[in-house]
Amino acid sequence: MKRKTKFLTIAGTRPNFIKIAPFLDELAKFKRVKSVLVHTGQHYDYKMSQSFFDELKIKKPEYFLGIGSGSHSVQTAKALEGLEKIFLLEKPDLVILVGDVNSTLAGAIAAAKLHIPIAHIEAGQRSFDREMPEEINRTIVGQLATYHFAAMEKDVDNLLNEGISKKNIYYVGNIMVDTLLKSKKAAELLSRKIMKEYNIEPKKYVVMTLHRAGNADSKENLIQIFGAVKEISKKIKVIFTVHPRTAKMLKQFGLENYISRISGLRITDPVSYLEMLCLVINCFFVLSDSGGLQHETTVLNIPCLTMKKTSEWSVTIEKGTNIVVGMDKDKIVSEALKIISGRRKNAKKIRYWDGKTSERIVKILLDKFNE
Ligand code: UD1
Repeated sequence: MKRKTKFLTIAGTRPNFIKIAPFLDELAKFKRVKSVLVHTGQHYDYKMSQSFFDELKIKKPEYFLGIGSGSHSVQTAKALEGLEKIFLLEKPDLVILVGDVNSTLAGAIAAAKLHIPIAHIEAGQRSFDREMPEEINRTIVGQLATYHFAAMEKDVDNLLNEGISKKNIYYVGNIMVDTLLKSKKAAELLSRKIMKEYNIEPKKYVVMTLHRAGNADSKENLIQIFGAVKEISKKIKVIFTVHPRTAKMLKQFGLENYISRISGLRITDPVSYLEMLCLVINCFFVLSDSGGLQHETTVLNIPCLTMKKTSEWSVTIEKGTNIVVGMDKDKIVSEALKIISGRRKNAKKIRYWDGKTSERIVKILLDKFNE
């Protein structure tokens, strides 16, 4: 009997889970492919990991590495060691990697050293800011991957500029939009419950998230950002879902008390995917340094202020609701006040951000392995 084609997918962090969900769903339709999932364990708290598997109905991983937290090198090395063992045992025909986290980098190095082809989903994104750990990861993954699936047309150019052959680059659209469109209804159904729980009303609050190393690990940036939040929260309530990294650093910098005294600011633990989507659908605008929220808000046509120096999601600035405000208090406040006074951007449609990205990717891959 002919051996089934074996695809091995790797995920480790919160945004990875959102990206693999529609891909694995689509792949499961094809019985001639054996799909193996590895969870590196980079994220491990219930709300950062298992809640995504439950809500998005992601299959139980065949392997769980439990690498946990640590410095970038330690985290990457642990994942590298564990993944190599699994690759040698499973002998996959293809390794599928998503995004740009440390687990993605480890997967790329381990697979490339064993000459296993790699498909990279969300390939070619660049901020051209090497201070971002994600920029280092994705640039290396770009050099090692075999098939490159780009979320934005501009990412195709980035890959071409880095010498990647045109025949291996595919513009397929944004896979997170697949999950978003599939989950929107379920999130909307939570609205009444969530509004009550947080004591908020639709369009009368701001959703805030903050977790980038460049912000969370910098006292100076945190002071600027929360200085802005203090001003904004005088006009409109701010709901801040705090990432564990940021919670740890706020404590370390002795800023916890200052922040807890901002009266219009409500701080909560990380929330699940559907709860977050519900909060975003109903909010007035988003204040964040997240990658995911920059494009989710564009798809939902909700204003987004991005507290980063640059954005790799350039199309959300050109065609969407995104504005990059950096980390300067006055700039953040002035852009927020504009939105509050009704001056906002409206989103245009982006080609292939249509909920069918996973379908396109799986079709291309199956054609390759059918030859
Ligand atoms: C990682 C990714 C980042 C992505 C983010 C999504 C890298 C380099 N960064 O950043 O690109 O946007 O995930 O959230 O891979 N922690 C917990 N519980 C958890 C996970 C983390 O308490 O379940 C705490 C630990 O103190 C840990 C810190 O958060 O040290 C940072 O976690 P880590 O996985 O290193 O990076 P993120 O900031 O989550």
